[in-house]
Amino acid sequence: MEKQQKSSHVVLVMVTFQGHITPMLQLASILHSKGFSITIVHTEFNSPNPSNHPEFTFISIPDKLTESHFSDKDPASPVWNLNKNCAAPLQQCLEKILHSLHHIAAVIYDTLMYSAQTITEDLGLLGIVLRTGSATTMLFYPAFSQLDEEHFVYEIKSPELQALQLKRLRALLSQNATKAMTEVRVAFANVLKRSSAIIVNSMEFLELEALSKVKQYFPAPIITIGPLHKLAPAICSSVLTEDDKCISWLNKQAPKSVIYVSFGSIVNMDKQELIEIAWGLSNSKQPFLWVVRPGMVRGSEWIESLPNGFEESVGERGCIVKWAPQKEVLAHAAVGGFWTHCGWNSTIESICEGVPMLCRPFFGDQHLNTSSICNVWKIGLELQNLERGNIERTIKRLMVDMEGNGIRKRAIDLKEKAAFYLMEEGSTSCSLNMLIKHILSV
Ligand code: UDX
Repeated sequence: MEKQQKSSHVVLVMVTFQGHITPMLQLASILHSKGFSITIVHTEFNSPNPSNHPEFTFISIPDKLTESHFSDKDPASPVWNLNKNCAAPLQQCLEKILHSLHHIAAVIYDTLMYSAQTITEDLGLLGIVLRTGSATTMLFYPAFSQLDEEHFVYEIKSPELQALQLKRLRALLSQNATKAMTEVRVAFANVLKRSSAIIVNSMEFLELEALSKVKQYFPAPIITIGPLHKLAPAICSSVLTEDDKCISWLNKQAPKSVIYVSFGSIVNMDKQELIEIAWGLSNSKQPFLWVVRPGMVRGSEWIESLPNGFEESVGERGCIVKWAPQKEVLAHAAVGGFWTHCGWNSTIESICEGVPMLCRPFFGDQHLNTSSICNVWKIGLELQNLERGNIERTIKRLMVDMEGNGIRKRAIDLKEKAAFYLMEEGSTSCSLNMLIKHILSV
């Protein structure tokens, strides 16, 4: 089997948003360690640096995305355009690889590049989808594609799934759904339905109920192979440069005193929202480490719209960076809370370090992740609005008040369960073997 793997070639189709580059590279590294040779076909914007990964072959395909696609308030716009623009170059690229290698064991594509599924099928290749979000998000897709509207939510009886408040979330996600958003969701559902297997970056015990439900909807085997960042920890996947000075700042803070604030790689906000966050953090009197990406605030280069008097009021108590080594930050003894947008990578990284969360979702799966964090696992609090007084109160509830102690304890319990899951003979290696068998099955 080892020899067979050595000659087996897997092509990974990567969509180069940070939250998608990381899990795909981690999966590539895991498969490479099992003897597969790897080609990564990726979109052009945000290209990963091939010299960081000499063990993989990288091929870039033109995506024709412009700034306007990203500044569009519709988060589905870049994805919709990517699929429209990349389908033909992706097909040519796969044909070329096939022509030179004669055999591709499998093509693993991100759900966001849903056009890869039909192309792979047409070329007679084994197509596997990598779902970079939670397994729970898949509960929505039958409803979005109107495959099974009746079945959806209404017969969910377990307390865990009821706690997710799926009906409320569905209504929320349906509000302001643009044409591109609706089309993209239907495409996601179809790609999950038609792929030969679904890989999910999660742990079985974390989403047990949702997984058992989702397995009834989708015929393909669902392989939970997470948490990928723990299985392939050495991967360098950051598009932005990590600013290490925040670690020396953290070293000077008291244990569990710091609230780490980061909204991932895509979220944008208005100047007024930045100002409310700034005063909320300042007035909370907690030390904070805040990631403000260049361009994150609409109409600003970086932090020039911070209010007058903010820096003086905060002094050494605050540290602002453009990008942090997040996994290292979450594992640091000084960090006692994570104010997050609840992207799935951030969520699972925080769970693995036992850090309780303050949740402020912006779009898409972030709402559902918030519901899991606050209502199912009960390891966080939801920040209902971005108003300075509310921010100050909610930070204190999490970081100082008795209420925060219970949340912290549950977060640590969940971290221990995750550590046990990773150590346990079987759980992760069983999923990995299942994936390898599947890849070698054709
Ligand atoms: C996007 C979507 O927004 C999210 O909802 C979806 O679940 C995944 O794709 P993103 O917004 O980037 O992702 O958030 P997230 O999934 O949390 O990924 C961010 C990644 O960037 C994490 O791996 C995190 O460790 C890393 N990061 C973030 C840093 O390394 N440094 C930082 O300063 C901030």
